[in-house]
Amino acid sequence: MDKERLVTTMSLKEDEDQTLRPKTLGQYIGQNDIKDMLSVYIQAALKRKEALDHILLYGPPGLGKTTLAQIVANELGVQIRITSGPAIERSGDLAAVLSSLAPGDVLFIDEIHRLPRFVEEVLYSAMEDYVLDIVIGKDSESRSIRIDLPPFTLIGATTRFGDLSAPLRERFGVVMRLNYYDIDDLEQIVSRTSRVYETTITEDAVSALAKRSRGTPRIANRLFRRVRDFAEIIGDGTITTDITNHALSKLGIDHNGLDHTDFRYLKSIVTMFGGGPVGIETIAATISEEITTVEDVYEPYLMQEGYIKRTPRGRVATEKTYQALGLKYYKGLFGDER
Ligand code: ADE
Repeated sequence: MDKERLVTTMSLKEDEDQTLRPKTLGQYIGQNDIKDMLSVYIQAALKRKEALDHILLYGPPGLGKTTLAQIVANELGVQIRITSGPAIERSGDLAAVLSSLAPGDVLFIDEIHRLPRFVEEVLYSAMEDYVLDIVIGKDSESRSIRIDLPPFTLIGATTRFGDLSAPLRERFGVVMRLNYYDIDDLEQIVSRTSRVYETTITEDAVSALAKRSRGTPRIANRLFRRVRDFAEIIGDGTITTDITNHALSKLGIDHNGLDHTDFRYLKSIVTMFGGGPVGIETIAATISEEITTVEDVYEPYLMQEGYIKRTPRGRVATEKTYQALGLKYYKGLFGDER
């Protein structure tokens, strides 16, 4: 893979709009502890004229890991290269992207837990000593060459902190977990999006959208675009609560933001497995979803909101799930730990 291709395999999600991304920490809403700490580290690196230490960002998808990496590069006044774990197939791919960096640049590797193990091993010395040791040639012809790299900042992002090897985890000087946003932050994000898109939205509609965004700015912005479509076609362009409710019910999103897949997931536990406990493999197979998608995308929110519990014997539905499904809760002999 040549340098050019690697850099253009930008892992920007197709439904993301660059114009919506905040460019500075000041514009970034929420994640206040993370912003405060990053601000200190950025100022200290600038003051010392050194590259910022490597940063690992983890947490559920859609919370702004890529955006934060872009902001860090912007605030440092350096370039950012964006790639992802699965895009780096060989150590040569990594060498290509690393040797394209200028001093102080940021390299962002999304889904860093998916880097092939032998690529990851090459990354260790790059992170620690800014050198690349790579083997070229095969068998008796092979030799090892060392390439000096400029000081750089690696920002790794992952939805699966536990899948990172210990040696890789330990090489990050800063490890930060992004959390779901609260309603107040999401309301601010929805309002900001309405200003960027120059769309009028009522205060109640801002709240309705924020409440149904599963704590996730990417979802808030996606829903905003869909609701705006309805407002332009069946209304006068203004996003009202009526239009929001109409659009979201068409999209199959309930008043708490649960969608078709959430319902299929919860229904499978309750109606097919008596409320659980049931293993993740079984649930994923029943609803025809990948286990990793269920674990990384759907479950964290359902768990945080108290719809399910994880027990050693599998997932268990709670009373809240029965309410959401309009079913009578039957507490078994062992309560939720059935
Ligand atoms: N758009 C998406 N995420 C955002 C955030 N955290 N702050 C501001 N705008 C956003």
